[in-house]
Amino acid sequence: SRIGQPKLVSPITDQNLSGLEKSKQLAAWTAVDQHVKPEHRVIGIGSGSTVPYVVERIVQLGAEANQERVFIPTGFQSKELIVSSGLSLGDVDQYPTIDVTLDGADEVDHELNCIKGGGACHLREKVLAEAANTFILVADYRKNVEYLGTNFTPGVPIEVVPFAYAKVLQNLHHILGSPKASLRMAVKKAGPVVSDNGNFIIDAPFDLEKMKTPYTIMAQIKMLTGVVEVGVFCNMAKAAYFGNEDGSVTIK
Ligand code: 5RP
Repeated sequence: SRIGQPKLVSPITDQNLSGLEKSKQLAAWTAVDQHVKPEHRVIGIGSGSTVPYVVERIVQLGAEANQERVFIPTGFQSKELIVSSGLSLGDVDQYPTIDVTLDGADEVDHELNCIKGGGACHLREKVLAEAANTFILVADYRKNVEYLGTNFTPGVPIEVVPFAYAKVLQNLHHILGSPKASLRMAVKKAGPVVSDNGNFIIDAPFDLEKMKTPYTIMAQIKMLTGVVEVGVFCNMAKAAYFGNEDGSVTIK
């Protein structure tokens, strides 16, 4: 479904956000307005560039609304965001049941399956998605696709134990039929990207036909020894909010 622009009541509206940023903000604000309920006490906060707008909207709910709440981060970025916004920080080992988790996505298909892990946070993101009674995705219009892999071309993010990365790459090349998977490197190829859990990330591009059965891909990769988590989330999200360029929001 598609709804009009929600009423924006924050001073941030006056800032000159670019079209893309505005669409991220619209998605995030609408999702918070619809899914963060007054009775919610434990809230999961995901990672990426859309999630700061989730926190922005939550902060606007006011100190009174948030004083008895605890916020659980999916990584270093969201931990900093929670703390710097003056919200109470918790951890999933203290709160294994979360009322609602709001997170970004790299792509979301017509069945709400998604690719996550563009920011290398998908292990903790999946734990918080699973812990949540309600898991909600927020994204800009580019992420809204019929089938995974349409716009997001780097491939499926896979977190691997460093010791096993070469063997996992070799096994992935067998599965893919060619050496397409690669170890994610830091800027200027200074070394491998290291996740918040001290692991490496492999990106494995599957062809579009295979991406039409994301659960099969996820299960196949997860079986490989040394794989910690796969950035394909199936049957987890209750809804996805996409901000559009025209100021509307698409809800899936
Ligand atoms: C990090 C993620 C992010 O949620 C995903 O990459 C989306 O980020 P953005 O909101 O910046 O597009 O999965 O691991």
